[in-house]
Formats: sequence, structure tokens, C-alpha cells
Amino acid sequence: MDWCRNLLATRNMDIPVSQIRLIFNKTIGRRDIINLTAGIPDFDTPDHIKRAAKRAIEEGFTRYTHNAGYIETREAVAEKLRRDNGIGANPETEIMMVAGGMGGLLLANMVLVNPGDEVIVPDPGFVSHPAHAAIAGAKSVPVRLRKENNFGLLARDVEAAVTRKTKLLILNSPNNPTGGITSDRETRKIVDLALQHDFYIVSDEAYEQFYYTDHKPLLPGSIEEARDHVVSIFSLSKTYAMTGWRIGAVVGPADIIRAMVKLQEHFIAMPTSISQKAAEAALTGPQDCVEMMRRSFRERRSLIVEGLQKIEGMEVAAPSGAFYVFPDVSAYGMRSYDLVMKMLNEIGVATVHGSAFGAGGEGFIRICYAVSKRRILRALKLMSDYLPQLLR
Ligand SMILES: Cc1ncc(COP(=O)(O)O)c(C=O)c1O
Repeated sequence: MDWCRNLLATRNMDIPVSQIRLIFNKTIGRRDIINLTAGIPDFDTPDHIKRAAKRAIEEGFTRYTHNAGYIETREAVAEKLRRDNGIGANPETEIMMVAGGMGGLLLANMVLVNPGDEVIVPDPGFVSHPAHAAIAGAKSVPVRLRKENNFGLLARDVEAAVTRKTKLLILNSPNNPTGGITSDRETRKIVDLALQHDFYIVSDEAYEQFYYTDHKPLLPGSIEEARDHVVSIFSLSKTYAMTGWRIGAVVGPADIIRAMVKLQEHFIAMPTSISQKAAEAALTGPQDCVEMMRRSFRERRSLIVEGLQKIEGMEVAAPSGAFYVFPDVSAYGMRSYDLVMKMLNEIGVATVHGSAFGAGGEGFIRICYAVSKRRILRALKLMSDYLPQLLR
């Protein structure tokens, strides 16, 4: 296959292979394995959203749309932003529909970053954040999320990572893989840094609705003074159990949205018309499905955290958001990848090694608890029978 490698553009060499997929692929077709790897809610898409999609097909919403999406769908996003986030955005100029959060994140990097610029990314963080920077030709600069701070980002760590080349900071709170939430105080300080050093914040809101704190965490996009410096990427994937529908929305300054819409035209043109209509129903319809999912994840979080805390060698605090736990497994005395492979091969429990999410994730594993309580209990039993013997 060397001839093939020679034909591939060099750009491909800089793009890291997703280490999550590496593990996930080993579980495909293995019914004997308890799969706690992929961040896919186990709920079905709510019925009223599915009905809206069927209606959209029947009524002929099956053609190309505006490259930013149907105006009605963007208006539904504007309504959601007003209702949930206190953000007033113009649906004509400041909002666009994208193919999932991923579509928005890539476009934001493509329009904001020049080759040689620096993009600050959370470490541990979502695997695609450094990949998007690499695709845009930028260098990603990791900023640590610390266990001592329950994996919330600290402004002082961001400040230490800022250089003259910093163009972008990716924020992700609640965070994948740790479930950490950045406090409102630190969010304000980080926004101040962006204004002072003149870099953009791209706020990845994939887990916006899954917080288990007393109040809804502050979104950088809700801070009025920072409007020119913040691009917020919303996704319906996790909030409405719509991972396969590939639909999300971006809100940001009109100049940036215009550039992203222009680029999207040459990429995918627009996200699927039917998914846009489904999103409209999701955003404007009853929100009790979201509340039900949040409650259910919260219960499962307690179940898994309490179970893990009883296993000798595991160190874990309850994460504040998302649907992952990120226990410290360094006591078992091996690389997180080796531990994950051992658990997969010897007890059939699939998790992801922390180092898949950056150097800061070494010594941890990510466990996704968006699975049934029965599976969580079974995995806990297998782990508690197996892991303590590795300490001896
Ligand atoms: C932090 C984060 N951002 C973005 C995404 C992308 O999600 P989607 O493209 O389905 O919206 C994910 C998916 O797991 C994620 O964890």
C-alpha cells in the first residue's frame, strides 16, 4: 500500500487517529462485552421529534435549504437561546445550522485559524479538538484540567498557555471526558483574558443540559461584553438523544457566521433538511424529555460513583456534569491503556484509557454511564472482583 501512502496529502499525517475508536472497534459484534466506551445516550429520540421528521418528509421538506439552514429552524434556535441562555441573537445573521457539534467545531477552526496559529485545548479533552486545529494547520496547546479542581478549567492555567500566537481557546464545560464543569467565576476570568489578549473562545456546549450542580453553569456566550469574542457551538446529539441525526447550531458574531456559512456551502451545503425540521420540533416542543434524561443520568452517576468508590485502588469524586466518570487508576501501577486492555480481555468491560484524551489523562480511565443500571451494576461487580488483585 506504499503507493497509496505516497498519494495521500501530507496534511493527513498530522491528524491523530481517535484512540476511542481504537477501543470501540474492538467491541463491535462482541455481545459478551459491557461497552462503556462511546458517548451515546441509551435513550431513543423522543416521539414528538420523530413525528416531526416524518411529517417533514411527507410535506416535502426534502430539498436543499439555505446554507445556514431554514430560517424557521434558526428562529427556533434563537428562541432556545433566549429561553435557556439569556442570549439575544439575530437568526438571520448570527445563527447557522450545522452537522452536529462536530460540523460547527471544524468550520470555526477553518474560518478563524491561520496555519501557525495556536489553539488552546483542554487536556484531558475531546479527541476532535486537537484534530480540528491540526486540520486547520494550527498547533494545539494543551491546558490542564486538574483532578484537585474536579476538572474545572482555571483561568491561571489558561493565562500561562497564552502566547502572541494564541488565536483560539476551546472551552468545553461540562467536559468530555472528565464531566468537569468550569465555575462561573473562572469562566468570567477566562472571558476577561480573551478580551485582554484578543483571542476567540469557541465554546463547545455538547453537554450543556447535563449538569448536576445547584444552578445552570454560566455559558461564555451569555456574557454580553464578550459577544464579539465568543462562538458557541450547540448540538442536539446528546440533549435530545439524536446522535445519528447530525444536527447542531452555531451562534456567534455575524462576520464569523457569514464566513462559516460560505465554507459550509462547499462542504456539505447544509445539514439534512429533515434533521433541521426535527431540531425545530425539539427546541420549541416540550422540554420534559431533557429533564427526564438529566434525572436519569444523575441517578446513574450516583450508582456508578458509589460503586467505584468501594473498589480498592479506585479514586473518584462525583463529576459535576456530562455522563462520564474519570477515576484515577494510577494505584494499579500500569499505563491506563494497559489497564483498559486487561479489563477488556479478562473481564469483558470496555472503557477508554485516559491518555486517549491527552497527556493529562494518563493515570485515569473514562467510563461512560449512559447505559442501563443493570449494565452498570454488572460492570461494577466484574471490576470489584478483578481490580483489587492487581494491587497485590
Ligand atoms: C465534547 C464534545 N463535543 C462535540 C461532540 C460532537 O458531537 P456531535 O457532532 O454529535 O454534536 C462530542 C461527541 O461526543 C463531544 O463529546
